[in-house]
Amino acid sequence: MKGIVFTEFLELVEDKFGLKMVDTIISNSNLESEGVYTAVGTYSFSEMLQLLQHLSENTGISIDNLLLVYAEHFFSVIERSYPGLLATYKDPIEMISSIENHIHVEVRKIYPDAELPTFEVTNKTENSLVMIYKSSRAMHHFGLGLMNKTFEHFNATATIDLEKIKEDGTEVRFVIHKN
Ligand code: HEM
Repeated sequence: MKGIVFTEFLELVEDKFGLKMVDTIISNSNLESEGVYTAVGTYSFSEMLQLLQHLSENTGISIDNLLLVYAEHFFSVIERSYPGLLATYKDPIEMISSIENHIHVEVRKIYPDAELPTFEVTNKTENSLVMIYKSSRAMHHFGLGLMNKTFEHFNATATIDLEKIKEDGTEVRFVIHKN
């Protein structure tokens, strides 16, 4: 997992819960990096999982909800860092249905070692989209948060339902209806 995902995560934790919480979740975890991350480095996903688990234990907020809120923050990082990529799109359904064939293809050019999910579009109309998310990292709520913010970015709203195809969340169907 890319360092930028860790550095932005720890900044958000500091903003919302304070520096003491950052120290607590780092010292509760067994981290090869020792909790020192650079934006361009690459670190094991298990480090993110441990940080999320300890943050969840210390705040009582579920990992899914933490990932949702984190993704909403991460979208502003994307807006700041990749304005050109977002400017390619005029419509949220077009953008979200292009993650697999365009957006994450570009991400992989920037970060060849990025660990990305796959999104398969199974149904698409002007105002609706059905996609299958697959990833061993089960970060579907991170995807949900990015989708929410994508609609907001285009001054639109949507109803997004998430149906687990696999119990462990490694395969999930997103059913999206633009309002
Ligand atoms: C992961 C970039 C849009 C879904 C990532 C990562 C980056 C990235 C850098 C982390 C890779 C790693 O840590 O190795 C971008 C950029 C986007 C974009 C620049 C837009 C310009 C989206 C959108 C979605 C999405 C709209 C909505 C579904 C995900 C998910 C992950 C991810 C779910 C977590 C990894 C996983 O589930 O396996 N993306 N992304 N991305 N992205 Fe995107």
